Amino acid sequence: MTDARSPAPYAPSFPQDRTCPYHPPAAYPELAERGPVGRMTLYDGRQVWAVTGHAEARALLADPRLSADRKNPSFPVVLERFANQAELDIPLLGVDDPEHARQRRMLIPSFGLKRIAGMRPAIQAIVDDVIDAMLEGGQEAELHSAFALPVPSMVICRLLGVPYADHEFFEGRSRALLTAPTAEESGAAREELKDYLHRLVAAKEAHPGDGLLDDLIADRLRTGELDREELALLAMILLVAGHETTSNMITLGTYTLLEHPGQLAALRADPALMPGAVEELMRYLSIADGMVRVATQDIEIGGHTIRAGDGVLLPTSTINRDPGVYADPGALDVRRVARHHVAFGYGVHQCLGQNLARAEMEIALSTLFARIPTLRLAVAPDEVPIKPGDTLQGLYALPVTW
Ligand code: HEM
Repeated sequence: MTDARSPAPYAPSFPQDRTCPYHPPAAYPELAERGPVGRMTLYDGRQVWAVTGHAEARALLADPRLSADRKNPSFPVVLERFANQAELDIPLLGVDDPEHARQRRMLIPSFGLKRIAGMRPAIQAIVDDVIDAMLEGGQEAELHSAFALPVPSMVICRLLGVPYADHEFFEGRSRALLTAPTAEESGAAREELKDYLHRLVAAKEAHPGDGLLDDLIADRLRTGELDREELALLAMILLVAGHETTSNMITLGTYTLLEHPGQLAALRADPALMPGAVEELMRYLSIADGMVRVATQDIEIGGHTIRAGDGVLLPTSTINRDPGVYADPGALDVRRVARHHVAFGYGVHQCLGQNLARAEMEIALSTLFARIPTLRLAVAPDEVPIKPGDTLQGLYALPVTW
């Protein structure tokens, strides 16, 4: 038995950069080969548990003895930009039940399957308009900024009732929040976003519009269930998570399919494969590659004892390639039944926006490849700029031509 109080001799650093944008960083597979529960070292020298086994990850993510509470003094700081996380109010993702369940309950109806199915025609219209604009621009484009970012941005604006006219501001601030090197810069971006959302809520109180924020003002703010600060914080997490994640999936998903022409041909031949292909791309790309928790009680798992106060890291790219669950896990196979991946998380914090993200990815990818059948990379595959390991995984840019 080992525990985190005795430093492990093998504990590679977290996070690490990917060298291929769709494969886990080079050191992660070796960690997994050594066992389902290992150790990694954070930037500040702290060692935490690193769970790479699929069964162990799901068991832990469903275990109430693991906490998401960023205010817990033992909660691991995985990046310098989050060094002051204990001082911040982070709704949903950063709190435990029952507070978490109270917040989530207010939002669930807007992200349910039926509500999202009703948004599909609007998503399709947005995708078509963005592709029209891209085609009007000539024979080539930078796909991330011309397509993959505007689509989810427009969709989350419509869902929330945020004016898309402000997209340059909120996209820029979200990017800074998630990529700035220091806690000061990331925190400043967060404050600017929050102030913006406070102003937006005030404007909406005076002139109600049509969106989730307007519903929350009418149904929860006026009743006192939410105060303005909590509403602005919830709006912020939805706005940021609602566009940054899906845009990376669309860009990286497009690149990955272009790099796997046989798989793309199968999808073109049978468009009914698209929902399964999206699930497989989620598994394969695992762009949110590191969930974090802290243990509040001792937990026995995989022959180890995770002690109360120990940090736990769950790198999704490696969990989703557990060979005991997925045959030939390093191969992209759009016909694979990729269910049960943890790319949207698992347990009570499992992604609130997953139905929306799936609808956006299905519509965006199928429409893109149907409307631009000659779509191809405009640069050599190894020239695309890969995002570093310390943020959501993806590409900074994807030059394409047709
Ligand atoms: C393909 C795109 C997406 C990916 C890969 C993704 C990934 C994830 C993951 C891994 C978690 C769990 C984190 C954890 O347990 O620590 C999560 C939670 C969450 N996601 Fe997503 N997400 C995506 C799209 C979206 C969208 C479109 C929204 C829309 C608003 C959204 C909103 C949220 C929220 C609010 C949570 C926190 C849920 C909670 O704590 O109860 N996500 N997401």
